Amino acid sequence: MNPPLISVQNLTVEIKTGRGLLKAIRGVSFDVNPGDAIGIVGESGSGKSITLKAILDLLPTNARVTGGKIFINGQDVSALKPKARRALLSENCAMIFQDAIAALNPVIKIGDQIAEVPRYRLGKSEEESKNIALTLMAKVGITDGESRYDLYPHQLSGGLRQRVAIAIALSGDPKILFCDEPTTALDVTIQAQVLRLLKELRENSGLGIVFVTHDLAVVNELCDDIKVMYAGKLVETGTVENVFTRPTHPYTFSLLKAAPDPDKAVHRLFTISGEAPNLTQPVTACPFAPRCFAASDQCQSSEPELLPMAQSMSACFHSENHVNWASEDSQKSVAR
Ligand SMILES: Nc1ncnc2c1ncn2[C@@H]1O[C@H](COP(=O)(O)OP(=O)(O)O)[C@@H](O)[C@H]1O
Ligand SMILES: [Mg+2]
Repeated sequence: MNPPLISVQNLTVEIKTGRGLLKAIRGVSFDVNPGDAIGIVGESGSGKSITLKAILDLLPTNARVTGGKIFINGQDVSALKPKARRALLSENCAMIFQDAIAALNPVIKIGDQIAEVPRYRLGKSEEESKNIALTLMAKVGITDGESRYDLYPHQLSGGLRQRVAIAIALSGDPKILFCDEPTTALDVTIQAQVLRLLKELRENSGLGIVFVTHDLAVVNELCDDIKVMYAGKLVETGTVENVFTRPTHPYTFSLLKAAPDPDKAVHRLFTISGEAPNLTQPVTACPFAPRCFAASDQCQSSEPELLPMAQSMSACFHSENHVNWASEDSQKSVAR
């Protein structure tokens, strides 16, 4: 059997901050196989972007991987010298970040930016590279490619620049695409178009997708699996269908509360009152307990591990009670 496109095993990341050493990622594991689309959700600061940056070797200078392993196509990334690691990453992985506009070169025509990888890394002829760029422009919904090819980024709207960034990401024919809230800046029509394109690439070319988003409707539309992140850990994982219809962690339950019906589009995460813990301090209890409707004394005893529950995985001492959470009493305490 082929190895997964990517395998993250017990990843930990620490960040030096003014307040002390922040344990930003505290043991995250997941695999992505060809054609998989995985949604990672969780409130701001939970560690989604740092997870992607650790995989892509793009951590800020004050952050470092302190434990765990990352395999890309079966190769242990930590065993490679920087040059070989960069080659492995650029051959297999591409990314689209929210701030795609900053990723574009302001002094190079957009068409040439899209044609760059085909021309210089894949060794295609100038004409072929231009054709690839024009095809990609059409695919991501940039109409009138021929005349827009020669424009510079500042001559385009934000939505168009985001689409240029997506075309660039796809230009190297990646096996796996990492997206960090890429559709946030797009209007609904363009977003739907981008999602259609990603779905098609997944189904027809086996592209693996890791999609970080605040938008549960996007996860429902694009992904088969969902990972819910809280305070640097995965607290619930499972298929979108199972997790959306039967959440087994109170955090997921609260996130979904505004959208109990997965077919109803909810374009943001429901916000939960209270704050995540300060991860410069040791975690000795369930980090969600202070905000949790189901918390008990046991939740103060230690941090629960991610364990199988129903069809999913959940890090909660009380996850076996999930069947009761939708009852009136729980609803009241959720709203507390
Ligand atoms: N460059 C940085 N310096 C210090 N702390 C950072 C830096 N980048 C991220 N963090 C911290 O790491 C944690 C995880 O951040 P991040 O992965 O960006 O969260 P998310 O993407 O889920 O919103 C947060 O507590 C955040 O404040
Ligand atoms: Mg982020």
